[in-house]
Amino acid sequence: MSDVKLRCLGCGSTYGSDEVIYSCPKCGGLLEVSYEIPEISLKELSGALGVWRYRSFLPIRSKVPVTLDEGGTPLYSCPKLAKWARVKALYIKYEGANPTGSFKDRGMTLGVTKAVELGSKAVACASTGNTSASLSAYAARAGLVCYVILPAGKVAMGKLAQALMHGAKVISVKGNFDEALNLVMGLSIKMGIYLLNSINPWRLEGQKTLAFEVVEQLGRVPEFLSVPMGNCGNISAIWKGFKEFKESGISEELPRMYGVQAAGASPVVKMLRDGSEKLTPVVQPETLATAIRIGNPVNWPKAVDAIRSSNGLFDTVTDEEIISAQRLIACLEGIGVEPASAAAVAGVKKAAENGKMSADSEVVCVCTGHLLKDPEEVISVCGRPVEIPADLNRISEIVGDQK
Ligand code: F0G
Repeated sequence: MSDVKLRCLGCGSTYGSDEVIYSCPKCGGLLEVSYEIPEISLKELSGALGVWRYRSFLPIRSKVPVTLDEGGTPLYSCPKLAKWARVKALYIKYEGANPTGSFKDRGMTLGVTKAVELGSKAVACASTGNTSASLSAYAARAGLVCYVILPAGKVAMGKLAQALMHGAKVISVKGNFDEALNLVMGLSIKMGIYLLNSINPWRLEGQKTLAFEVVEQLGRVPEFLSVPMGNCGNISAIWKGFKEFKESGISEELPRMYGVQAAGASPVVKMLRDGSEKLTPVVQPETLATAIRIGNPVNWPKAVDAIRSSNGLFDTVTDEEIISAQRLIACLEGIGVEPASAAAVAGVKKAAENGKMSADSEVVCVCTGHLLKDPEEVISVCGRPVEIPADLNRISEIVGDQK
């Protein structure tokens, strides 16, 4: 693949693709991977649906990637949720079906492959949980040492369990995610450890493949693409994917990107509402959707660009709206998602209520993580099951006449 560079979105400077930098050394701007987009048709792609089917759009050299067969997740049609939200069609792109149960795996297969390509021996991230679960698994697969910095007491149990079992060195800090991220950025530079938070543009190259899959599965570009926003890497990556498919000639349209934040952690939505050009961080972000409990998202300039240039939408949803959507997704459609994922669906109902989407709208919601990630939230929302003696009569009484 030719002409692969890291390009600064702030000042336009370019750097070699093997430079270990996470922001522009000249102006501090965000970097993106730029390369010559192939002119290609869908027929020329080969392999099963999944990240590596799109190899011609993934500008790394390695012939053998570090992979767990990520991507290729289902796109479910959800007519009952569409009716509830009052839109024509609602689909869920179910990222919980990835190997470690979240969309992060798409990024980590690329990011860890790049780490190996660069000769790194150790990798690190800060995380609200899923990034650490995913990085730990891919680091194990590649034989790399993995350091994970977590906000103490604010990471869902399933995610913590994954990082521990995959052998990462887990460090909990008494602070929030934003503080943990600052620490790990300092650590990676000081100790020469490869950083795999979404400020690393290679990760976003993997995550953009979600857009490619949606186009293939739906047979077209959807009108809206609804995504929960935390550190804002995913919405940026997916937007890049849609743009690249258009540039390659595969698709003709672009979707309108809809960024949804939890009300207690919504600096990007506030900025867009105010029509401001600068983000004011939320110092103490709070939401039960711990995955997106982020007050100072590093990728905000990319997310703001995705929403503005796609003529997109942005809004917040409350924790109550998130829980209600999470239960409906599970009970009406049989799809188990974690709270942050439900924000994407809750946002659709709100947009339809506010007239930003119409009864004719078609929307794909990215449900980013699996229900099992956060069992404690489930118990706090659903309560514990009734406990009774092992007795048929007692069970029959509870079940009642079903004939
Ligand atoms: N949904 C889930 C389930 C997540 O874990 C995250 C982010 C997001 C949505 C938001 O994605 O940051 O790209 O805007 N989780 C990160 C982590 C921050 O550390 O696991 P984003």
